Amino acid sequence: MPANHPLKISPSILSADFGWLGEQLAVAEAGGADEIHFDVMDGQFVPGITFGFVVLQAVRAATRLPIDVHMMVMEPARYAAEYSTISDLTMTAHVESTNDIDATLDQITASGIRPGVTLNPDTPISAITSTLGKVDRVLVMTVTPGAGGQSFMAEMLPKIEALAALRDSSYPGLEIAVDGGIKVDTAPLAARAGATTLISGSGIFGHPHGISAGIASIRAAARPTH
Ligand code: DX5
Ligand code: ZN
Repeated sequence: MPANHPLKISPSILSADFGWLGEQLAVAEAGGADEIHFDVMDGQFVPGITFGFVVLQAVRAATRLPIDVHMMVMEPARYAAEYSTISDLTMTAHVESTNDIDATLDQITASGIRPGVTLNPDTPISAITSTLGKVDRVLVMTVTPGAGGQSFMAEMLPKIEALAALRDSSYPGLEIAVDGGIKVDTAPLAARAGATTLISGSGIFGHPHGISAGIASIRAAARPTH
């Protein structure tokens, strides 16, 4: 069971209001966020384009939290050297974004950034099992990457369970993150399946009572104390 592993809540700024991003990051940090999730899209790996290094610098200046850079771009290792000038990053690479995921992860690691690997809903675990010994984190996409506000795909729960079993048997330090459609109703499903980092955009930045309430409600739902 994941209860032995600390639970991390990771607000995805894709759903933030960019008119006051710095203030929202301060609220997220004060509200108990464990890290910030930063979605980079290049218009090729996914249709949309978001933000990159310059905005990452601004986020770094606005928070002391670790930052998980989710690279929805082709050949993400191209950016490792530049991004390595920013402290306390994980760079999470899609296995579908390169023909050589091992070399990609090696380049990320060599640059001094913590490596993570992620996979689309249609991609089987077998595509990434060989990388589990060299990543800090595996990220299970529970929506098709490219947009916030989509519905959680419950059919991904067996994937999380299988990765949790692999973690418990062979990779004790492996972090299992989940991204897409995480809200109070789905957070407990992902946590019970073995996820320990819950990424949420609209569930936190779109929470009717604000960012802190969004973080607290997801944390409480995932790890009920009673
Ligand atoms: C989707 C992004 C997610 C997104 C999640 O491509 O990778 O990080 O922000 O948004 P929600 O939590 O609204 O599904
Ligand atoms: Zn993401």
